Amino acid sequence: MSDTSATGLATDSRKAGARVGYNFDALVIDGGVPLKGTIEVLGAKNLVTKAMVASLLGETQSLLRDVPEISDVQVVRGLLEVHGVTVTEGVEPGDLLLDPSNVRSAHMHEIDAHAGSSRIPILFCGPLLHQLGEAFIPDLGGCRIGDRPIDFHLDALRHFGAVVDKLPTGIRITAPNGLRGAAIELPYPSVGATEQVLLTAVRAEGTTELRNAAIEPEIMDLIAILQKMGAIISVEPNRVILIEGVDRLEGYSHRAIFDRNEAASWASAALATGGDIEVKGAKQEHMMTFLNVFRKVGGAFDVYEDGIRFYHPGGELKPVVIETDVHPGFMTDWQQPLIVALTQARGASIVHETVYENRFGFTDALNQMGADITVHKQGLTGTARRVPRRNLEQAAVIVGPTPLHGADVEVPDLRGGFSHLIAALTAEGRSRVSNVGIISRGYGDFLGKLEALGARFSVE
Ligand code: EPU
Repeated sequence: MSDTSATGLATDSRKAGARVGYNFDALVIDGGVPLKGTIEVLGAKNLVTKAMVASLLGETQSLLRDVPEISDVQVVRGLLEVHGVTVTEGVEPGDLLLDPSNVRSAHMHEIDAHAGSSRIPILFCGPLLHQLGEAFIPDLGGCRIGDRPIDFHLDALRHFGAVVDKLPTGIRITAPNGLRGAAIELPYPSVGATEQVLLTAVRAEGTTELRNAAIEPEIMDLIAILQKMGAIISVEPNRVILIEGVDRLEGYSHRAIFDRNEAASWASAALATGGDIEVKGAKQEHMMTFLNVFRKVGGAFDVYEDGIRFYHPGGELKPVVIETDVHPGFMTDWQQPLIVALTQARGASIVHETVYENRFGFTDALNQMGADITVHKQGLTGTARRVPRRNLEQAAVIVGPTPLHGADVEVPDLRGGFSHLIAALTAEGRSRVSNVGIISRGYGDFLGKLEALGARFSVE
């Protein structure tokens, strides 16, 4: 059943994982109003989508809770359905039931039709190899934030004994002799490659030792899910994960970890607009690094049992020097929203981006709105490269405070797009933010939340 809410968000149903789409392209925002109120964050985009893929490995139905209405969930749902998984909404809002008992190979055109806008399809490799003996992965989408290669994924799969054939339309992966546990050392603690190894090793024959693994909270939550399913995984000191393969996994029942990237985004929106936002569902333990920086900039927060209140306590904001990093460092996904707040701090802030090679593109629009941000493409300090072969040392110098004024801007990617929204909400005057559909990839009901926080906007 199709329906369009007051905010213009078109949904087939209001339940979890439902089709989410927009019948408009732009938001017209009258800024300069502090965002105030309470909103709720649900399960993390960067866990929920992987948990959905994990359901493919079970012999029985899984129940995932707190699934947000975001388009990345919709993409993965579509991909699971073309592979024969039955996906239905559960009793509680946000419940998703995933039944893999009729898993089958999908036609290439079906996979292609569902995969264009996400990188998650690469994680189907291990589960499909276990279930069907082969996997086809089309050209991958995702945000425009650099090359985002998949070499770590393919190398890891080869270590398990998979054969990778590159075709003009994508990649075919087979395992003629089955998948066997392996010793794998990642060149960089990649989130996706760690998930690839986990999802493949749990049912491979023998033991896998993964070195230089990512240990983000979302990875730990995925490990918790796999353990519920019957996997044997131990997280050892120094980024080592040991996985003993098992013959059979069952379905799981799990409430997803909250979306700390979304919570940090709303926190930054509170700071930039001089507002006060309580984010229900946010938990201190997974945001400590962010909270330290937030406080150093001059933001205030109160931690409650069921959420965190983020607010601008008055006075001037202060500049900071930060470097994005793998967990427990400052997440790359936090820098874009925070930079908008840094345009309002007195003095020069420096943000080094070390995870992606091209994640400052969104600052052009901020400069158009009156910010003073200079991007140094080679970084500022000449520190060692984290991923050999590639230069990942961009730095942005943000000099403030600069009043922002309204402008016409186009959303480039998910987090950069949210920054554009915050900048438009901070700016005096009217802005037109186009291509806003991208924001629905990772921010559930963001228009409803903006309304709840008193933002003045209309859709176009
Ligand atoms: N990399 C390679 N080769 C690979 C894989 C990664 O060179 O085969 C490089 C990447 O190009 C990047 C770095 O390694 O420079 C880190 O990439 P990683 O694999 O850790 O990231 P990812 O799994 O592709 C996930 C999140 C991102 C988040 C990063 C870092 C999902 C769907 N995406 O990406 O989230 O920024 O981890 O924590 O989980 C977002 O939410 O907006 C987002 C981009």
